[in-house]
Amino acid sequence: MSHFPFEAQRSQFPILTQKAQLSSCSQSALSIPVTDAIARYMASWSEKGMDWGGWAELLDDARAQFARLIHADVSDIAVMSCVSDLASSVGNCLQFDHERNGIVLGEIDFPSLGHVWLAQQTRGAQVQFAQPDAGGEIALEDYARLINDRTRLVSVSQVSYANGFRQDIAAIGALARAQGALYFVDAYQSVGAMDIDVVRDGVDMLVCGGQKYLLGCPGIAFMYVRRDLAQQLRPANTGWFGRVNPFAFDIRLLDYADGARRFDTGTPPYINAAAAAAGMAMLNQVGIERIEAHIEHLSQVALDTAASLGLAIASPRDPRRKGSNTAIRVNDSAAIERRMAEAGFIVSARGSLIRVAPHFYNTDEEVAGAMHALARMV
Ligand SMILES: Cc1ncc(COP(=O)(O)O)c(C=O)c1O
Repeated sequence: MSHFPFEAQRSQFPILTQKAQLSSCSQSALSIPVTDAIARYMASWSEKGMDWGGWAELLDDARAQFARLIHADVSDIAVMSCVSDLASSVGNCLQFDHERNGIVLGEIDFPSLGHVWLAQQTRGAQVQFAQPDAGGEIALEDYARLINDRTRLVSVSQVSYANGFRQDIAAIGALARAQGALYFVDAYQSVGAMDIDVVRDGVDMLVCGGQKYLLGCPGIAFMYVRRDLAQQLRPANTGWFGRVNPFAFDIRLLDYADGARRFDTGTPPYINAAAAAAGMAMLNQVGIERIEAHIEHLSQVALDTAASLGLAIASPRDPRRKGSNTAIRVNDSAAIERRMAEAGFIVSARGSLIRVAPHFYNTDEEVAGAMHALARMV
């Protein structure tokens, strides 16, 4: 085995002494810092009764950690409970008029995004899907064919939740910009696993939730909105936390906070913020470039082992064209997920696929071991 660089951090994930958790495309492993952060929240509630000031700081910290992971400014980050809500909020404040009503997205993107954009048909949107080829990849030309001067929004998933295909978000963003369309990136399968720079990559809006590669729990999601774009948007999904001063308590005043914070709505999910902040702090401390390099290495191990065992690989064969997730086609994925868990390998079933999705704390042996266990079961 090559040298494993993260022994100290690995010891912070108790489950790894018992099981190989390889399910970061769904839920990553629970660490001691995240457990402690949740416990501190519970203690403050139990002992102080309430601590709104302290809880608000947890959210500020989570926003700052997220901003750092994508090279954004903390004031450009909005918070809601899930990615679906954030996307819906964006959809509801765009105009789909005679001049611009097109929405283009990938057919292998997460279904929620399809649902959210299709729901805008009642407001005039026309939705078009870029198609994957037989290998499960969408060619840049396919986007180029669909994006034109009537496109309002281009929405892409940076890494597919299904087969792990990784899109060139800078190149698709350039196509959107050239036609004057807005550019929305669903990075739920990529933030925390790879280096993302929203400014370098020309992204207008980017979303990601807490429980996958961010190492947190469900119930919180973050959205970057480019500053000058945010200033033009007036979200219809709103509430007191979206105001310039939430504590003005003026029922007749609908002003909008500066920047992305205007997308905030009601009382935030503070306990989930505590978990997310602790998880992301570990990622930022380790360094996202090191994490990305290790995950790419684990991808190669997964692909090589799966190929040598004759498994039906559904992911791109080049580690640079995929995220962490290596998907294997199987007959009964739910049954195999259960049997894999009994054998000590936590992997994730979706449709006809078993997804093996390591994080930086996983080793070559765990990834290769999962492939060998799968080969025995299929
Ligand atoms: C890429 C991607 N986008 C969106 C979602 C759904 O996000 P949420 O449940 O926060 O709305 C998922 C969940 O698995 C996902 O993998």
